[in-house]
Amino acid sequence: PLTAKVNQKDHLEIGGCDVQLLVERFGTPLYILDEFSLRTACRQYRDNFKDYYSGDSLVIYASKAWSCLAVCNIINSEGLGFDVVSGGELYTTLQAGVNPDKIYFHGNNKSATELEFAVETGCKIIVDNWLELKTLTEIAPAKSETPVEILLRLTPGIECHTHEYIRTGHLDSKFGFDPNQIEEVFKFVSQQKAIKCLGLHAHIGSQIFELQPHQDLPEVLAQWLKKAQEYNLPIQTLNVGGGLGIRYTESDDPPSIAEWVKIVAEAVEKACKRYDLPLPQLIAEPGRSLIGSSCVTAYTVGGSKEVPEIRNYISVDGGMSDNPRPITYESLYRCVIANKMSADFTEKVTVAGKHCESGDVVIEDATLPKTDAGDILVVTATGAYNYSMASNYNRIGRPAAVVVNQGEANLIIERETYQHLINRDRLPERLVNSAN
Ligand code: LLP
Repeated sequence: PLTAKVNQKDHLEIGGCDVQLLVERFGTPLYILDEFSLRTACRQYRDNFKDYYSGDSLVIYASKAWSCLAVCNIINSEGLGFDVVSGGELYTTLQAGVNPDKIYFHGNNKSATELEFAVETGCKIIVDNWLELKTLTEIAPAKSETPVEILLRLTPGIECHTHEYIRTGHLDSKFGFDPNQIEEVFKFVSQQKAIKCLGLHAHIGSQIFELQPHQDLPEVLAQWLKKAQEYNLPIQTLNVGGGLGIRYTESDDPPSIAEWVKIVAEAVEKACKRYDLPLPQLIAEPGRSLIGSSCVTAYTVGGSKEVPEIRNYISVDGGMSDNPRPITYESLYRCVIANKMSADFTEKVTVAGKHCESGDVVIEDATLPKTDAGDILVVTATGAYNYSMASNYNRIGRPAAVVVNQGEANLIIERETYQHLINRDRLPERLVNSAN
């Protein structure tokens, strides 16, 4: 959880930093990342795997949740590996100093250029489909002296209860090889000298509160692992994906990291025993549950509007461009007023963003103290899939981000300026001339 308290001025303090002072220094909207909380989550995953799993284990961060140099640096320093899903995420982790050996490259449509980049860096590739498998066998001999190390992603056919946009384990999913194809894939891979299949991967979805699907997955993977033995594949790794949900509002009640790890580790050991398999290296790739709760977004409250007998709006200086989750998935969030922490919660207001559409609502019907323009509204649990999904809609620059720890605050992402917004625009001479 967040390293947060209310200080003597009645202000919210995160990582020992008064949020009002951070806002005065860095402006709003502002992502505030609590380093201690992020490190704690990393350690919880890592240590619980050591406690509950008898074999070798590795936790890799699904960097799609938030990829930037500072975040990758912190997580790397905790000894975790990385899941990347594009050349851009791969580049970011490399620039942050991550050893390619600990990077796993995902994605259902990696381009030939991305595959070449991955092979040259020597990271591991999680192969999703036939085209990729064949492209790799063509690229690999020229780009790498040793066989390219891959994992195969399979569709496990496991349903879970979460938003349909973020389910991936069901058979009708674009990700991974269909189970019907497995033997053909194993056969093909076993005949290739340029690639070496280290393991199998499956991921069932995101923001999941149930433990059952995570408990069922190892059984399915172990069956496939058994099958792989028939083809003499040197498989030593099982990657069970990520997916553990976090608490956004009071009504969310996710299992803890320890509970999740325990269930997964036990299920893998049990399944391996049943199929008489040696314990594989176990990989998990959490994103949201590693970083989601470690960050908040601070906004400045602006105008308000009363719609008699229906609702009161207050508007903030960001919205769907820095947090597209409410408008995309109807996600719910909580907020507080950082400069009025102990005021009574007397108002029911809808917190609107500043973008040009009615759906740009950060929180519907939030319960808050009475607010005034200039107050600082802080939305919690914005570490995952906020900055990484941010846009420049309405030509609004993306916010700055700071990391806070023990009273110190450091800028980790600069605020985008107007100039940044037009930096890559080009005005062809022809258009300039014809305008006059
Ligand atoms: N591994 C794979 C292969 C994945 O596709 C994902 C997430 C993860 C791991 C990490 O899952 P997590 O532990 O974060 O649940 N934009 C959506 C979430 C999309 C998740 C995509 N894949 C959202 O804002 O809710």
